[in-house]
Amino acid sequence: MLKGFTFDLDGVITDTANYHFAAWKKMAHDELGIDLPDSMNDKLKGISRMDSLDIILKFGHKENDYTQAQKEQFATDKNNLYLDSLKNMSAKDILPGVKPFLDSIKQAGYPMSLASASKNAPTILNKLGLTDYFDAIVDPATLKHGKPNPEIYQKAAEAIHEPDYDCVGLEDAAAGIQAINAADQFSVGIGDKDVLSKADLIFPSTADLSLTKIEEAYKQARP
Ligand code: G6P
Ligand code: MG
Repeated sequence: MLKGFTFDLDGVITDTANYHFAAWKKMAHDELGIDLPDSMNDKLKGISRMDSLDIILKFGHKENDYTQAQKEQFATDKNNLYLDSLKNMSAKDILPGVKPFLDSIKQAGYPMSLASASKNAPTILNKLGLTDYFDAIVDPATLKHGKPNPEIYQKAAEAIHEPDYDCVGLEDAAAGIQAINAADQFSVGIGDKDVLSKADLIFPSTADLSLTKIEEAYKQARP
């Protein structure tokens, strides 16, 4: 029986994916001499800060060129660029359809938790004025593995005291859908059906999100 919701943040609640990518692109160009093609954006969605840096260094054939301390500095520089782009973030930056969707979940009485790989997630929820909707936020610093490993979604279900099988997870990234499926939660993808082909249910955009449609699809798949 459907009992709770686990949420990704970036690309599901607010459109920060492009800010993340713009920050990586600038840092990689200026500090590493690596030019990232736009096709890289999808590959970095849902991937933790240090794992993203490793992917970028590998892409530029520079994976053995830097010490751990240098890598940490690159990641910090990227994060500072990213935080700069969030300066004016407010409730206006909540993706279309998300607020009414969260309201319908709240009204129906389902608990919600956040399964974002972002260490900036609490700051962002605050800026958007959405902190109070969430019963729990998984701290990504406590994780052993990043998405597509199921750990973050398992912790998100645990945090609302519901079994994985009874939870619905929402994601915009292929790595995230893989993580939800591996946790044995019901996966809802938001975005391109080719990128998210492994999802149990797909909405083309957040504006299409519907609690009723999710409840129906869940009931059919997990009677
Ligand atoms: C999300 C985003 C990724 C980002 C990761 C870590 O999963 O989709 O692009 O790298 O969070 O974010 P952080 O804010 O901690 O650097
Ligand atoms: Mg995402």
